[in-house]
Amino acid sequence: PPRVVVLISGSGSNLQALIDAQGYDELGGGKIVAVVSNQPDAYGLKRAKEAGIEAVALPHREYDSREAFDGALIKVIERHEPHLVVLAGFMRILTPRFVQRFYGRLLNIHPSLLPAYQGLNTHARALADGVSEHGCSVHFVTEELDGGPVVLQAAVAVAEDDDEASLKEKVHAREHLIYPIAVRWFLEGRLRLEAQGPTLDATPLPPQGLR
Ligand code: GAR
Repeated sequence: PPRVVVLISGSGSNLQALIDAQGYDELGGGKIVAVVSNQPDAYGLKRAKEAGIEAVALPHREYDSREAFDGALIKVIERHEPHLVVLAGFMRILTPRFVQRFYGRLLNIHPSLLPAYQGLNTHARALADGVSEHGCSVHFVTEELDGGPVVLQAAVAVAEDDDEASLKEKVHAREHLIYPIAVRWFLEGRLRLEAQGPTLDATPLPPQGLR
């Protein structure tokens, strides 16, 4: 089966959605072979172990530089020869070397309707702007932070009484729906980043994705 390595930093609820999808045979026959966290106490590592998946803590603080950390991360990942590397709440900026190494097989999920609200604190910023619609995006990772081509998005309506916590929860629920779908598409070979550049060949998808 196609091998998937998942990188996390925290709770790992998206990781759990992927584990569950694999359990229901809804991950394109793929298998999550390892979960790596830069935060040794990340709850997601427990989720991995519980599911019988190799869980690796790789504390970034033990490395002198971003380059050194990414070098170690590349080594750990490559031991598993993954077809796909999935960033699921991995809160580290990756070096160009890392991105190039896994180019075209590196997916991320971001809690906004990209290109809106790249970076951090997306829910608070969306609320402050008074937007009526917010959401999440799965995208291929390129060297431009949160700027790679979008694969799939899900939108939520922002309610009058939404606060940061409630909005975050709504968006999270959508993340758990769309990330397994995007991963499945990739592992089924339906979703590719073309070699000549960040063009997305996803012909079977509806033009607007899942909105
Ligand atoms: C998710 O909301 C994900 O979109 C976000 O971190 C959260 C991780 O939650 N990622 C980013 O902000 C990336 N810049 P989880 O650990 O429960 O999956």
